Formats: sequence, structure tokens, C-alpha cells
Amino acid sequence: MIKVTSEVKTITQMTRDLPGPLALIPTMGALHEGHLALIRRARQLVGPNGTVAISIFVNPIQFDRTSDLANYPRPLKSDLALCEKEGVDLAFTPEKEFLYHSDHSVIITESLLCKGLCGSSRPGHFDGVLTVIIKLFNLLQPTLAIFGEKDFQQIALIRRMVRDLNIPVEIVGHPTVRELDGLALSSRNIRLTQEYRKDAPRIQRALSAASDLAINGEQNPAAYLLSAKKHLLANAPDGFFIEYLELIDAESMQAVSLITKPAVLATACYYGEIRLIDHVKILTG
Ligand code: PAJ
Repeated sequence: MIKVTSEVKTITQMTRDLPGPLALIPTMGALHEGHLALIRRARQLVGPNGTVAISIFVNPIQFDRTSDLANYPRPLKSDLALCEKEGVDLAFTPEKEFLYHSDHSVIITESLLCKGLCGSSRPGHFDGVLTVIIKLFNLLQPTLAIFGEKDFQQIALIRRMVRDLNIPVEIVGHPTVRELDGLALSSRNIRLTQEYRKDAPRIQRALSAASDLAINGEQNPAAYLLSAKKHLLANAPDGFFIEYLELIDAESMQAVSLITKPAVLATACYYGEIRLIDHVKILTG
């Protein structure tokens, strides 16, 4: 496995000279089975002669809370060992100073799909995500890039950026990988206390129970929101609270008054300081 940290010319030249397609998996490290699933998917897509590249970079400009940035796990050594084991060909682990000049003044902003959900609760977050992703695309020039559907607003925004800025990279979505008890894997899960970890599958259970209303063709968003809220809050431990719970159109990401097209019920919840997100698709009739 080749490890690169800097030198634009070298990186770009090198990836240009590699044979076959290059699949990029952008991450912030603290790798878990969700990330590994993306790595395996990348290998399937590019084949044995293609290149599987991962980036590991805790992107400071996408954090809205300094405590979250400071506490974000950074087990780089074990991450690289996992990459090696999974057959990753190239690991890009830039220093902050390499990606961001101290007086950097250009950022990418999306103005429509970022309005609700994480976009409204974390101002500037998606500007940070899109800016780092376009940098990674420019540096590594991937044929395709793989993202988890767990962060479904994130992937929708990246698809929109690629479309609107004519970026020649194919975006591939991968389904959410979960623990056996239903909790979506996240680098933040290891920071949950034992009690919170035990309770955390309530998020998926609540969304899933609400989505069952679709079986009888329920079209009223309020019914889904009420059901999910009830399940989220029933006997919840101290320190648990809902940051947002929204039902939106799957494509436009705008709130709907009647469900006639595929929709998404999405939530962000806190256990103390730890923020977890999840969503479920709602398909009626
Ligand atoms: P990070 O949270 O490390 O996630 C990296 C990639 O793994 C993202 O595409 C994310 O959606 C995917 N992923 C995380 N948990 C997953 C799960 N349980 N199942 C499937 N995929 C999962 O998302 C980011 O980093 C950053 O915002 C980034 C895109 C790297 C930009 O900094």
C-alpha cells in the first residue's frame, strides 16, 4: 500500500499513471465495518487491476462544535493497518496545512438541498464537506467515489455538486451497515457510555415502527412524525434528546404536506454530547 501525505504534483501524477479505474473512499478515519464495506465495494467495482484509494482526514472546516472536533477519534495507525489488511492500494492522509492555506478563502456552498436536517442544525457543515470533497477529487482524480447512504443528505449534496459543476466522477451510494441490534455504525458509537450504547437502537426501531404506517398507505407526514417521536421519547434515558425529526421528499429534500412520492423520515438525536443520525425510506402504495 502506498501512503501519501502531501505534494500535489506527485499525487496527481501518480494517480494519473496508475492502470485501470481509481475508486476513492473519503473518510475521517476511526474506521469501522461501515467503512470497510465501502472498501470492499470499491474493489468489486474497479476489479483486481484497478486502484482502491482511501483518504483519512478529520476535516476541521466541517465541524460546527470545537469540542466535537477535539474529541473526534484519530486512531491513524490501526486505521492504516486495517486498510492494508483490506487490500487498499493507496492511503491519502494529508496534514491540515496541506489542504488549507492559513488564508484560504474559497468554499463550495450548495443552496437548496442543504436547507433542512443536518444542513440547518449544523450551519456551514456541508460547505466544509463539499469543499474537502472537491479538493480530494482534484488531487486524486478518481473515476468513481463511494459514499454511505447513512449520511443521505451528504451524498445527495455531493451528487448535486458533481452534477452542477460538471465534475467527471461517478458517485456510488452504499447501503447503511448496522450492528446486529440495528444501530447504524458510526465512528461516534465508541464514545457512547454503556447505558447509552444499549439504548441507542431505539433510533432505528422508532423510525422503522413509523415507516410501518406505509403498509396501510398512510400519506400524512404528521402521522409518521408522531409515531417516531413517541417511540424515540418513550422511557428514554436522561441526556437523550431529539435535535430534529423531519419527513422530506427523497429527491427535493423539502418538507411535504402529503406523501405521494418516495420520502425519507430522518432524525438526529443526542445521547449527552454524542450526536447520532439515521433515516428510513417511506414508500407508500
Ligand atoms: P465518515 O463519517 O468517516 O464517513 C466516511 C464514509 O463512510 C461516508 O461516505 C459515510 O456515509 C460512510 N459511512 C459511515 N458509516 C456508515 C455506515 N454505517 N454504513 C455505510 N456507510 C457508512 O462522512 C464523512 O466521514 C465525511 O463527511 C467525509 C465525506 C469524509 C468528508 O469529510
